[in-house]
Amino acid sequence: MKRDISNREDLLLLVTRFYEKLLADNSISYLFTDVAKIDLSHHLPVLVDFWDSVLFQSDTYHKNAMQPHMALHRQSPLLKHHFETWLRLFKETTDELFEGEIAFIAKERATSIATVMQIKTIQVS
Ligand code: HEM
Repeated sequence: MKRDISNREDLLLLVTRFYEKLLADNSISYLFTDVAKIDLSHHLPVLVDFWDSVLFQSDTYHKNAMQPHMALHRQSPLLKHHFETWLRLFKETTDELFEGEIAFIAKERATSIATVMQIKTIQVS
């Protein structure tokens, strides 16, 4: 029986493994490496803050997560297959590591945020 997501250490494990998968997938990795040129040591803690706020109302993330994605989309289009891959890998990682109500909510929230993000990017295509 796996544990549920319960603290920031769990969130760091989740996003670290998730990004290993994203960066190993050539159909999406270039957006992180070549276009946005992310620095993982800076980016992963921001993601932990984001998910801590979403799942545990921690008040650690105060920015608008949509904005950098719209900027990214203007540089290199975010397409349907990118969202499908992002979501598939997020759900796969969550299921590999955790199980329970919070893990379920994380997948639900990821799905709804990705849906809104996709609608917003299609509007400016
Ligand atoms: C096609 C799907 C997606 C791609 C390719 C993608 C890619 C990226 C990239 C490259 C960045 C770094 C942007 C930068 O710092 O310039 C980023 C930031 C981020 N992404 Fe995504 N993303 C996707 C979907 C999502 C979804 C669905 C969520 C939420 C559930 C999400 C949450 C975040 C957060 C919280 C940040 C940090 C924003 C900040 O710095 O405040 N992403 N994403």
